[in-house]
Amino acid sequence: MLEIGQVRADELAKKFGTPLMAFDLTVMRSILRQYTDNFKSETLKTDIIYASKAFNCKAMISLIEEYGMCLDVVSAGELYTAQKAGYDCSKIYFHGNNKSIDEIKMALDCGVGTIVVDSLPEAGLLSELTAGLTSPVRTLLRVNPGIDAHTHKYIVTAHDDSKFGMLFSNEEEIVKTIRLLQKSPNIIFDGLDAHIGSQVFDKRAFIEEIRMMFEFAGLLKEKYEITSNSIDLGGGFATFYTDEDAPIPIDEVCQTIVQTCEEENEKIGGFVNHILIEPGRSIAAAGSYTLYTAGFTKKTLNKNYVFIDGGMSDNIRPALYQAKYRAFVAGKEAQTPIKKYTIAGKCCESGDILIEDLSLPQVDTGDILIIPATGAYCYSMASNYNKLQFPEVIFVEGGEARVVIRRQTLDDLISREV
Ligand code: LLP
Repeated sequence: MLEIGQVRADELAKKFGTPLMAFDLTVMRSILRQYTDNFKSETLKTDIIYASKAFNCKAMISLIEEYGMCLDVVSAGELYTAQKAGYDCSKIYFHGNNKSIDEIKMALDCGVGTIVVDSLPEAGLLSELTAGLTSPVRTLLRVNPGIDAHTHKYIVTAHDDSKFGMLFSNEEEIVKTIRLLQKSPNIIFDGLDAHIGSQVFDKRAFIEEIRMMFEFAGLLKEKYEITSNSIDLGGGFATFYTDEDAPIPIDEVCQTIVQTCEEENEKIGGFVNHILIEPGRSIAAAGSYTLYTAGFTKKTLNKNYVFIDGGMSDNIRPALYQAKYRAFVAGKEAQTPIKKYTIAGKCCESGDILIEDLSLPQVDTGDILIIPATGAYCYSMASNYNKLQFPEVIFVEGGEARVVIRRQTLDDLISREV
C-alpha cells in the first residue's frame, strides 16, 4: 500500500476526501537539500530561486524559505502570497513580460529585491516609477539566447520569436535598455537572465545556454564596458512522470552548471560574481500525488473508461500539452494489470482525459486512484470549469498530515458574484 509521508494513501483519502493533492515532505526536502548542497561554488556566489509559478501557496513559500532559497514571482497574486507568508521580499525576483504599473509599484513598495526587466519599454517605465525611491532596486535583463529550436527540440521558450526577453541579435536595443537602467539613479543593473524551456532532459542544453550567456556578457563588457555582475540561467530541470522520462539527477545538473559557469567566467576575465538558477517543476513535483475516487466505469468500442471525481480542472496538462502520467490503484499496487483503462474526468469536454490506455489491475467504483508527480503546474493552472471545486492540498511528513489549502466550498465558488 502506497504511503505518503508515512500515512497510507487510502487513509488520507478517507480523512480528507478526494480529489486530494498530497505532498510527501520527506521527498520534497530531499530534493531541496540536493539543490542547496550541490549548487555551490568556491569562486562564485550562488543562489537558487524557486519558480513559484509551479506551485505557489503560503506553506510552500515558507518551506522554500527554510532552505534559504530566493523566490520567483510573476504577478501581484504570487507576490501577495509571498508577503502574506512573511517571506523576506528582498529575496524576491519579479519576472514577467507585461508587469502592470500597479504591480511594479506594489513590488517597489514592499521592497522586492530584484526586478527582471523584459523589454525597453519596461525599463522606461521602471525608470520613471523608481525616481522617488530612497533605496535603489536591483534589476536583471531577461535576454533570449535564441537557441535554435530545430537543433534542440526540447527547448521551447528561447526561440527567435519568443515573447520573453530580448534576442541576443537585437544587441543595439539590449545596450540601449541597459544604458537606460544604468543611468536611472535608483536602479542597479546587476546582470543577465534567461530561461530556455521546461522539462529539459539533456544537460547539453544548459551547457550551451551557459556558453552563450557568458560569451554575451563578455561581448557587452568588451564592446560597451557593461559589466554583468550576475547571470541567472533560469529553470527547466526535468522531473520524473513516467518510465519514458530520465531526468538528469539534481546533484549532477547543479555540479555541471557550476563547473561550466566557472570555466566560462574565466574565459571572459572572471568579472561575473554571482550565478543563479530558477527551478520550479523539479521541486514542486517531488513527492506529490493527486488522489481521486473512481466513479462509474464505461466500456466503449475501444476504451475502458474509469471516471474520476476531478479531471482537467485540477490537471490541465494532459489536455494542454499531451503530458503523460502514471497511476496506481490504492491497495492494488502489487496486483497484475488486467486491462487498459482510460482515466477520464467529470468535465463536459471529450478531451478531459488524464491518462489514456493505462494497464491497471481491476478498477472498481470506490477505488482510490493515485496519480504521482502532479505537484507542479496542476494546482497552479487549475480552473473552476463546470464549477468544479479546487481540491484540498495537504503536506504529509512523519505520519502527520496538515491541510495547507482547504478544499473550495460551493460558497467559495459564488463568493465574488454580485
Ligand atoms: N524561470 C522562468 C523565467 C520561467 O519562465 C520558468 C517556467 C521557470 C523559471 C521554472 O521552470 P521549471 O523549472 O519549472 O521548468 N505550464 C508548463 C510549464 C511552464 C513553465 C513556465 N516557466 C507545464 O505545465 O509544463
